[in-house]
Amino acid sequence: MNFMEKEKPIGVFDSGIGGLTVVKRVASILPTENIVYFGDTARVPYGGKSNTTVVEYSMQDAKFLMSKNVKVIVVACNTASSVALDDLRKAFNVPVIGMIEPGADFALKHTVTGRIGVIGTNTTINNHAYLKAIKKLNPDVEVFEKACPLFVPLAEEGWIESKATYLIAEEYLKELKDLNIDTLVLGCTHYPILAKVIQEVMGEGVKLIDSGIAAASIVKTELERIGFCTNSFSPGIQDFYISDIPQKFKEIADIFMGKPLEFIRKVDIEKLISL
Ligand code: DGL
Repeated sequence: MNFMEKEKPIGVFDSGIGGLTVVKRVASILPTENIVYFGDTARVPYGGKSNTTVVEYSMQDAKFLMSKNVKVIVVACNTASSVALDDLRKAFNVPVIGMIEPGADFALKHTVTGRIGVIGTNTTINNHAYLKAIKKLNPDVEVFEKACPLFVPLAEEGWIESKATYLIAEEYLKELKDLNIDTLVLGCTHYPILAKVIQEVMGEGVKLIDSGIAAASIVKTELERIGFCTNSFSPGIQDFYISDIPQKFKEIADIFMGKPLEFIRKVDIEKLISL
C-alpha cells in the first residue's frame, strides 16, 4: 500500500451545517486525522426533496470530496444515507460510511424496553430507513417514527434554545411522548444541535441517540481494518467547504464546534454540478 494513502483526509458531507455534529465526533476519536467537510448550504434542505434529487446531489457532493483526494467518505446526512448509499458505494472506490446502520445498532444497544422512537426528515421517515435497519437487526422491537422537518431550518438559523423551538418540539414530539419509548434516535445530523430542547421535551427518562457517535466509531474501525490510519501525531487540519456562505454560518458553526473555524471556502454550485 502506498504510504501516502494513509495521509489522505477523511471526507464528510451533509446538506448544510448538520454534518458538523459528525465532524466533531470523528475529530474527537481520530484527532490526528485531516478532515475535508462539504456542506451543501446552497441546496439545503435535502429532507423534503425526492429520492432521485437526493441521490443526484449526494453523488455531486461525494465527487467533490473525491476531488480533494479523500480516503473515506462519511455520509453525514441521514437523508442521503437513506436513499443514496448503494449508488455511492457503487460509484466510488473508497469506503462509504452512512448514518443509518450505525445509529440503528446504537439504539438497540441502549433500549431496555424495546420501544424506540425515530425522528428525521420527511425523506428519511417516509423511506422508513431506521425502522427497516432496526427491525433487520431485531424484529421484536417496536419502532415509532415522526418526521420533524422544521428542526433543520431552526438548527441552520441557530435557534438552539428559543421559545419557538420549544413550541415546535412540543408539537412534533407529543405523540412520541405518549408512546412510552425509552430511546429516541436523532435521525438527522442537524438534530443534535437541538438536543437540549428535545431532551427537555421528551424528559430525562428517554435516551437520545446521536448516530454521529456511532458512525464515527465505524470510521475508526474501518480505517484500522484497512490499515489507513494516519501516522501523524500532530492535530489534524479541518477544511470546510460550503456551496453558499449564509451570514450566520460561521457564527453558528463556531459555537457548535466550540472553536473558530478556519478555512471556510465557497464552492461554486455550477462547478459542483459539472464535476
Ligand atoms: N442533516 C441531514 C440529515 O441528516 C439533512 C437535513 C436536510 O437537509 O433536510 O438528514
